[in-house]
Amino acid sequence: MFALGIETSCDETAVAVVSGTRQIVAQRILSQVDDHRPFGGVVPEVAARAHLQHLDRLIAEAMDRAGLDFAGLDAVAATAGPGLIGGVLVGVTMAKAIAAVHGLPFIAVNHLEGHALSARLSDGVEFPYLLLLVSGGHCQLLIANGVGDYRRLGTTMDDALGEAFDKVAKLLGLGYPGGPAVEAAALGGDARRFALPRPMKGRSGCHFSFSGLKTAVKQTWEGLSEDGRDDRARADLCAAFQEAAADVLVDRTSHALAEFPASASRQRTLVVAGGVAANSYLRARLAALAEAEKVRLVAPPQGLCTDNGAMIAWAGVERLRLGLTDGLDFAPRPRWPLDPDAPAVAFAGIKA
Ligand code: KG4
Ligand code: ZN
Repeated sequence: MFALGIETSCDETAVAVVSGTRQIVAQRILSQVDDHRPFGGVVPEVAARAHLQHLDRLIAEAMDRAGLDFAGLDAVAATAGPGLIGGVLVGVTMAKAIAAVHGLPFIAVNHLEGHALSARLSDGVEFPYLLLLVSGGHCQLLIANGVGDYRRLGTTMDDALGEAFDKVAKLLGLGYPGGPAVEAAALGGDARRFALPRPMKGRSGCHFSFSGLKTAVKQTWEGLSEDGRDDRARADLCAAFQEAAADVLVDRTSHALAEFPASASRQRTLVVAGGVAANSYLRARLAALAEAEKVRLVAPPQGLCTDNGAMIAWAGVERLRLGLTDGLDFAPRPRWPLDPDAPAVAFAGIKA
């Protein structure tokens, strides 16, 4: 079985062909960072136009590398939300066109489910598992019970963690994309020099909040003299930010583990996925938590954490197996929660 996957929901134009035996047969990823860098962040219209400009060529290249023609595919899958709607429309329209012309099933993939299932592609993880999904748009803890079957335990009340990384990078003048820049800057830094808050740490439940942490970084930076705002201070502040973020992730995840009890027949598995899961320091801190809690930690390889076409193709494989295909009238969804039954987050009474 082979599925073509198309990912165009943000600033990567990504396509891949993945097999039912978990092989990434071919993939192409075109990052748009150079297009967006002058603006200091992703500009939706610029992104949509760049997807449109490059997608057909990338698909042709991936198919060529896979040694397949469209008739050799079993399904075409595309991210159909959540994300920047202009880009999503480009990918979905392309996938529907290929499906219509070649008589193939079309599969509308929830981008978050792409991240959620990436550990099943990389490591063959079995359901159920606890999922920490940390990306530019989301920060959630969920129990993944099956394809299309997720129970949300916690989410962020304000910023996603990747968003906080990006904002910290911007205010420290580290540019875009922010996450990798903050991680690189933090490498030589002393996390103890600046005291930063750990929002939500120690509170019951599994919700997150990162906007207070980002504001504390801003105030600390702006409180330094002009001379003091040097590379050393930048490195120390990035290290302190990363340590604070990790403390919060570890605390919240340990609460979620308490809501995901062990059973006699299986070892508990914690999966971390999404772009922020590419961060080596955060992975190491989660590995330490997993060891202490005697759970198996699975973090897909970094290229499968940040946005990619393989996770969308794989979600297509999983859905096709279950007969979960979609009509060509499927309307893309700019908002699309993984757990539609999740209770609304109670903001009242919760202070970061
Ligand atoms: O999953 P992803 O590629 O796109 C979304 O679905 O949002 O995640 C992108 C986010 C960005 O906020 C980016 O700064 C962050 O992931 N990110 C990182 C790292 N690499 C990417 N954050 C921290 N450390 C990294 N190494
Ligand atoms: Zn993503």
